Amino acid sequence: MIKKQITIAIDGYSACGKSTLAKDLAKKLSFIFIDSGAMYRGVALYCLQNNLFNADGTPKQVEIIQALKNITLSFQLINDNNCLILNGKNVEELIRGTEVAAVVSKIATIKEVRVKLVMKQQIMGANGGIVMEGRDIGSVVFPKAEFKLFITASQEIRAQRRYLELKSKGIEAKINEISSNLAERDLMDSSRKESPLIQVADAIVMDNSKLTREEQLDFVLNLIRNLV
Ligand code: CDP
Repeated sequence: MIKKQITIAIDGYSACGKSTLAKDLAKKLSFIFIDSGAMYRGVALYCLQNNLFNADGTPKQVEIIQALKNITLSFQLINDNNCLILNGKNVEELIRGTEVAAVVSKIATIKEVRVKLVMKQQIMGANGGIVMEGRDIGSVVFPKAEFKLFITASQEIRAQRRYLELKSKGIEAKINEISSNLAERDLMDSSRKESPLIQVADAIVMDNSKLTREEQLDFVLNLIRNLV
């Protein structure tokens, strides 16, 4: 049976398993999967590599806005892994590190950065059949998405999950530092002026603190049964 090419928007706090669920769903439905956070991480990496932060850690806004025309982002499937390509280079590993995590939410507050990335995300999802995850997908990128999910999980569990994820990639980080980074980003993401992280009224809320990977997938598949 041919599936309806709907748009699935997943939003939520840092490290609550949005990517895992979005990937699993996309695979199950043969939809495209887009991790919009990877794109913000890509711009943040470019800024780190090109000295676009002031000594006090604030982004050099004017220079960054000017540099946006030099930043090209795309995704490529390499060894079954969806990798972010920044100006022709696979930066998937680099964007997951703690250096990028420490600055990405500052970059994500810049309006012009958001306008550029949102436009690209809307083009990628123009034909539907997509699962996109991030912070503003149900509110700004695809406000008309057929299915919207807002994920949450306890801070402790999220820090633990991110710790294990980084460890499996060979990245060493302290759990208390990860936890502070998540809290800091959640606060910045929820309180920024430009498209803050919000739970839209038509989103279904899922707390996955106590759900396994399979359970969270089943939960959503059940909910969208009549939509696809
Ligand atoms: O994987 P994790 O939940 O840690 O974060 P991410 O999805 O990779 O996103 C990294 C950062 O990008 C977030 O903390 C936000 O500051 C920003 N972001 C955003 O502003 N809007 C999005 N749609 C996605 C990410």
